[in-house]
Amino acid sequence: MSHAEDHEGTRRDFLYYAAGGAGVVATGAAVWPLVNQMNPSADVQALSSIRVDVSGVEIGTQITVKWLGKPVFIRRRTEEEINWGREVPLEDLPDQNDRNENKPNLPATDENRTLDEAGEWLVMMGVCTHLGCVPLGDGAGDFHGWFCPCHGSHYDTAGRIRKGPAPENLHIPVAEFLDETTIKLG
Ligand code: FES
Repeated sequence: MSHAEDHEGTRRDFLYYAAGGAGVVATGAAVWPLVNQMNPSADVQALSSIRVDVSGVEIGTQITVKWLGKPVFIRRRTEEEINWGREVPLEDLPDQNDRNENKPNLPATDENRTLDEAGEWLVMMGVCTHLGCVPLGDGAGDFHGWFCPCHGSHYDTAGRIRKGPAPENLHIPVAEFLDETTIKLG
């Protein structure tokens, strides 16, 4: 290739990329008003973190709280539920990512998904990872955890998808215990 051809090629590449860049800018400008509209207002932002009193949650029961417009399940698991969750071999799990924002991208062991080391407390978004329905809890489904009746997704006692169309385990939001009876979400 002569020097002239080489130069020509470089110039064409440059023009191509410049055009591509302009396209991106134009798209950005078109998308912006929508993004701007979706910015939460000040009062919603104030609730981006909430405190939940869990002193009334008995072993073997759960509560659902609304956070950022979505349901969050807070379950206090029984010994049996903990054991079932811990006995499952990782290879049996369709989704092996723990989906836990507190410990991102670790294996989906039961231990990696609970809020406390003893494994009693499980906090999850109550949103099916298939198309977003709210699954039924309290031991529902074939794996004694949650069941989404919309299209038949079964989640186990750690909220991991085991059967049905949902591609991912139920997501776990940023959460922590502030004291023995208060969980902070966000
Ligand atoms: S939305 Fe839950 S199975 Fe389809």
